[in-house]
Amino acid sequence: MCGIVGYCGPKRVVPVILEGLRRLEYRGYDSAGIVYLEDDKLVKFRAEGKLANLETRIDDAIVAPAHIGLGHTRWATHGAPTEENAHPHSDCTGDLVVVHNGIIENYHSLREELKAKGHVFTSETDTEVLAHLIEEHLENDLPKAVREAVKHVEGSFALGVLWAKNPDTLVAARNQSPLVLGVSDDIGSFMASDIPALLPYTNQVIFLEDREMAVLTADSYTITSLDTGEVVDKVVQFIEWNAAMAEKAGYKHFMLKEIYEQPQAITNTLSGRINPETGEVTIPEINFTGKDLESIDRIFLVACGTSWHAALVAKYWIEKYARIPVEVDIASEFRYRNLLIDERVMTISISQSGETADTLAGIRLAKQLGSKVITICNVVGSTMTREADGTVYTHAGPEIGVASTKAFTAQLVALFLMTLYFAQQKKTITAEKSIELGRAILDISTTIDNELPRIQNQISTLIESFYDSKDFLFVGRGLSYPIALEGALKLKEISYIHAEGYASGELKHGPIALIDKDMPILALVPQDAVYQKSISNVEEIKARQGRLILIGTAGDDHLQNITDDIVYMPKVHEDMNPILYTIPAQLLSYEIATRRGCDVDQPRNLAKSVTVE
Ligand code: M6R
Repeated sequence: MCGIVGYCGPKRVVPVILEGLRRLEYRGYDSAGIVYLEDDKLVKFRAEGKLANLETRIDDAIVAPAHIGLGHTRWATHGAPTEENAHPHSDCTGDLVVVHNGIIENYHSLREELKAKGHVFTSETDTEVLAHLIEEHLENDLPKAVREAVKHVEGSFALGVLWAKNPDTLVAARNQSPLVLGVSDDIGSFMASDIPALLPYTNQVIFLEDREMAVLTADSYTITSLDTGEVVDKVVQFIEWNAAMAEKAGYKHFMLKEIYEQPQAITNTLSGRINPETGEVTIPEINFTGKDLESIDRIFLVACGTSWHAALVAKYWIEKYARIPVEVDIASEFRYRNLLIDERVMTISISQSGETADTLAGIRLAKQLGSKVITICNVVGSTMTREADGTVYTHAGPEIGVASTKAFTAQLVALFLMTLYFAQQKKTITAEKSIELGRAILDISTTIDNELPRIQNQISTLIESFYDSKDFLFVGRGLSYPIALEGALKLKEISYIHAEGYASGELKHGPIALIDKDMPILALVPQDAVYQKSISNVEEIKARQGRLILIGTAGDDHLQNITDDIVYMPKVHEDMNPILYTIPAQLLSYEIATRRGCDVDQPRNLAKSVTVE
């Protein structure tokens, strides 16, 4: 969602901020703005739409000899995505500006109170109240005014504040919305909503916690509690990602690059965690003994979107091998239902970003109810990793495309490792099974690496006859069912085609009524335990003239009696099919979306990191 970048230091501020905003574009936004201080005056530019619109307005400003400023990309919540509603927002004097991510829930009453005191508002946003509220408390101490102002605020915020009368200082504050500081010895101080914005300049970061405030100058930073004003000692963390990892590296889109990075992401996620001889898994980050696991009655898997699909796959694996009952919840539902959770429940949250508001609220609730909380996450130091009792990192590297691809397959790998780990600790699988499953997961990255270009070529030809369809179905059974859901989600997010995923066996209970000669249906039919059942469902579709596309196992000639549109996948261990069959589903969405001319990396209305409820 919204992106914040702030900088003060020896570099010219405008290029630093624009570069930072560009690197946050993946978060999703619909307007942008920038402000900097030049000759003691704030200079502000804002524009609707993409950053390019903003850049055309500030051509000359690029060379401005300015060294302190703030930038923002806004994902509209209160008020349309217009120039007037774009951040930064100013106080009545125009000397103080605020950029904000989050939602001020009591903005309406605050606005009325401030208007009654004579403040004049120029936008429909909740953010603007912050500028006026700080102004209301401002004498000559900006940090103090920010602290006083936020006492009146209910809701979530990550804030950047600049005051022309305090020309060397930026103030940052956070409550339930991510904000990270970048520090350096000689190139100044930074704030940003996410790490990629900082990577060209520094790998040394400090994660602000909820209700903390930072005062930044070019060569210093001080972090205090928003509530007590006391100084908080923070650890500077070193981030191993580099700036090039967040570049397209010759690929047309981040999404395609990230699809092709999956073999490496899988290898990195496995690295050092599995013994190739015995299949034995070690995950020091969670370190449960068999005895600890005996005291766990149930596991809750909590996530949103694509991460929820990873949870659905994991349910099959964990119940089959570790013999622990698993419930899977969409986080926005989990947090509002009457949960039967106590200390005998383990809650595992799954999140690429580690910042998803609903998932975060879910784990907080689970913790309150006594559950142990583990998170599977891709972003080092993100809020979820700091709040969970343990984190199993996926090592997929930065994922920039809004549609999650490599993070998903890395989540599946981490969940399979956890399954093996639980099963080994509980001794619910034999040593031979450990070797078999260990080999299966270790081999999958090479298989994908070998097959990716062929699958892409085949799919790019295949889609010609249905890329302009209005609707699409994805079906699968067993372990393929969550992948059907994932395929449908990918297609709808990036191509805007209406797509649904179904368990194949469920078709006859309603959705089969949709099938006719114009309805493309992608059916995942690997030769697995439910193969014959899947084929029967596919025959039912064929009998109703549905336009079938089959993804099946190499050598399965029977499929050619059903349709000509087949993508064959190499035979792998049955439990690896969800990881392997994700690849054609991703590529089908990618090829259709690019064929339709869609913006695959930044699809409309979507945000990479959903930090509001
Ligand atoms: O960062 P998270 O994994 O918690 O994000 C959850 C969803 O918002 C995310 O998976 C979303 O569905 C993606 N756009 C899917 O491609």
